[in-house]
Amino acid sequence: MTLLFETVSLPRYITPETDPAVPAMLDLYEELIFPDGYKGSPQNRRELTLHKFKGSIPYVARQDEEVVAFANFDLEHRLKGSSFLEAMVVKESVRNKGVGRFVVGQLIALTHSHGLERLRLEPYDNDAAAFYTRLGFEQEQSKNQETGQFYMSINANLRPHD
Ligand SMILES: CC(C)(COP(=O)(O)OP(=O)(O)OC[C@H]1O[C@@H](n2cnc3c(N)ncnc32)[C@H](O)[C@@H]1OP(=O)(O)O)[C@@H](O)C(=O)NCCC(=O)NCCS
Repeated sequence: MTLLFETVSLPRYITPETDPAVPAMLDLYEELIFPDGYKGSPQNRRELTLHKFKGSIPYVARQDEEVVAFANFDLEHRLKGSSFLEAMVVKESVRNKGVGRFVVGQLIALTHSHGLERLRLEPYDNDAAAFYTRLGFEQEQSKNQETGQFYMSINANLRPHD
């Protein structure tokens, strides 16, 4: 499976001329942030999704032309010396084929190339935590007081475990 990894520019307003990767990427993100669907209008839903990007950079993995994964990544680091993975989703039909590992490997390499020491994240749930543990992430002492979820991180000099 040949995968490409690249960033996507995110326009404030999405028009029919917008890079087709953008709606595909937002659809993937919305699976994560609105797991039970969104009751309001599609326009409001997109507004809320775009708002979630704040200062971070959207990346996609493509297989042929199709967007198969999305990552929202913060290189400005909230904590000195670290990057932060805000969110990541792999398209359901291609899960368990190494796409998630590929994306995380690319993000670790980006972290390293920006001179940062660690990649940190807050796992979405216990399933996500098990995935990151499999890749070599360690649970940190600190947790998000609001969600109760422990942060996890990996040394940016390492590659994900094979
Ligand atoms: C979690 C997720 C990103 C994994 O992506 P993926 O492409 O299916 O993962 P990979 O195929 O690269 O898996 C890499 C390794 O992790 C393991 N793994 C994958 N999902 C796992 C899980 N839920 N629990 C434990 N291990 C898992 C795989 O078995 C594989 O291990 P192996 O090398 O021994 O076979 C994907 O399932 C997903 O998008 N889930 C929904 C959204 C989500 O939870 N995102 C995380 C937000 S922080």
